[in-house]
Order: sequence, then structure tokens, then C-alpha cells
Amino acid sequence: MKKIGILTAGGDCPGLNAVIRSVVISAKTMNISVVGILNGFSGIKENLFKILSTDDVEWIIDRGGSILGCSGDNPFISKQSIKKCLKNIQHQNIDGLIVVGGNSSMGTAHLANQNGIDVIGIPKTIDNDVYGTDITVGFDTAVQIATEAIDRLRTTAQSHDRIMVIETMGRDVGWIAVASGIAGGADLIITPEQPINPEKLVESVKKINKNSGNNCNIIVIGEGAKFINDQNQTTTYRPDGSKRLGGIGNRLAEFISEQTGFETRVSVIGHLQRGGTPTTRDRLLASHFGVFAVKSFSKGESGFMVAYKGREIVKQPLKFVANKIKRVDPLLLQTAKNLETIAF
Ligand code: F6P
Repeated sequence: MKKIGILTAGGDCPGLNAVIRSVVISAKTMNISVVGILNGFSGIKENLFKILSTDDVEWIIDRGGSILGCSGDNPFISKQSIKKCLKNIQHQNIDGLIVVGGNSSMGTAHLANQNGIDVIGIPKTIDNDVYGTDITVGFDTAVQIATEAIDRLRTTAQSHDRIMVIETMGRDVGWIAVASGIAGGADLIITPEQPINPEKLVESVKKINKNSGNNCNIIVIGEGAKFINDQNQTTTYRPDGSKRLGGIGNRLAEFISEQTGFETRVSVIGHLQRGGTPTTRDRLLASHFGVFAVKSFSKGESGFMVAYKGREIVKQPLKFVANKIKRVDPLLLQTAKNLETIAF
């Protein structure tokens, strides 16, 4: 019987458990056993393996997070730890690996593949910035949550005649900001892709207020956005040394109220976008990706990431997608512009 390992790397997102479920159930029908690897790639090095049965995944399709745990660690960087990983994989009789991850995890997946492990990637992240796929598992849920937040924040903003700034996640890309901004009917959407011009910003805020006749404006800003004249984002660091973004919403609100006198409040919706139940669309995508990966593995195929392109599920070579970023779709940006909701 062939054996496949599965791990969830990087930050968590809704839909990971739906992928795991899909892999375990479809593998059973193809007579393949599945071993779960705990805490991302570090579980390979630390020998954290757990056989997964269909009982383990029976009730997890609607559960957020990952039953396997997540981490962004990359053990494929030193000779010594690569050796340890290869030894552990061999010891477990694992024939191949499914890596559910974002763009840097696809980079690690590629390294693992170059070191002789048969790897199939499955793209996930609320940020939707994985190169080579139209959509990642987790994005739809994050946009849904951000849109609901905007809807709720608008009613209270209206009652108090305030400007409401909503800071979304998404790192260096504006996918969540633009999609939820359009869906939530925002007045302004500010993305990391386009630095904020302070004069233009003040002009736009005043113009919107004049047109709408009151001070209720909804401004959605992606956490990676920056002022043109101040590229130093408010940044803290994760334990592994990588950047943590956030704080631009507060700086924007302060600036607007100083310059215009309008009362401005901020909501940083943060990890709410990452937790809880996945949407139907994410569950379907996760299920398709899992089945596709297992079918491919059963045919002896590997070295690629499963991707959704157009209306098809396709294979993208890991070397083609690793460590790249997918920017916001021009069509989304165009729609936002035509709705006069985008300034920067
Ligand atoms: O990549 C997913 C993401 O949620 C980003 O949108 C965000 O910047 C980051 O992870 C937050 O990471 P952490 O949970 O480590 O603060």
C-alpha cells in the first residue's frame, strides 16, 4: 500500500481541515494510506507523524484552523536538517508529500522536491497571493468576514456621522481589501500596491463628504499600505524573524482627522479573517484540490502545485510558482475604479 504524508505550512486559514478530509477520504478509495505531519514542515524534522483514518476527519469539514497544527518553519535549509528530514520520511515509509501552503511554503515544497521528495502542493492563504492559481483556499472566507465587518461598521458609522477606517489583512497585496471593499460598498480602498499620496487622500475624503452630504465614509485599507513619503510601516516581528504588518489604519485615521477635522475611528479586523468556519466555496475548493492531489499521486505524478485556472483544476510546476507573488487582478481594480471606490 502506498503512503502519503500531508502537512499544513505557514499561517492557518479556514478550509485547511476540509483539504485534509478530502485527502484522507479520497486516498482510502484509492487504497493509499495517509500520515498527518504535525506543525508544518518542522514535524518532518521533529518526527511528529500521526496516521490519519477516516474517523479522524469525519466531522472536520466545517472546522477552522488545522487539526495538524501550522508553522512557517523551513527545515530544508541546512544539510544536517535536510538529512534528518529525509531519514524520518524514509523511516515512516512515506512515498510522497502533500504540502498545503502559501507562497513561501511552496518555496519550501520546491526545496523538498529538489532534495528527492515527491511533493504536491495545494495553495492556501487568506491573502490569495499564491502565484499560478486564480484562488487559494481561505480567501473566500476572509473576504466574506471582511465584507460582513464593513456592513456592520457602516451602520454605526452612519449613526454617528463618522469616518470608519477598516484595516484588512493581506500582507503586501490588496486582494482582501479590494474584494471586500467592492462587496461592502466602500468609498475608498487603499492597497499596498499603490502608495498613499497625502494631498490626494485629503482631497478625496473631502470630495466624498461633500457628495454624500454627511461624514459617514467607509475606507478600507490593506495592512501593507504605506504613505508615499513614509515607507516605514509600523512593523513588529514574528519569533522566526519575519515581518508582521499592521498599524497603518491608525496612522491613516489620525492623519485624516488632523487634516480634515472629521471624526475618524478605526477597526483592525485582524485574525477574525482567519478563524472559524469556511464558506461553502472554500469547502468545495478544498475538496476539489484534495481529490486532485491524491489522484495525481496515485498515478505517480508530483513536483507541481494544484491550481485553479479559469474553470479548471490544473498542475503548475513547483519551480514556476515558488516564492512568487500574485498581484491583485486588474479586473477587480478596474471595477473598483468604475465604482469610484478606489483612490490609491
Ligand atoms: O499570510 C496570512 C496572514 O494572515 C497575513 O494576512 C498577515 O499579515 C499574517 O498572516 C499575520 O501573521 P501572524 O498570525 O503571524 O500575525
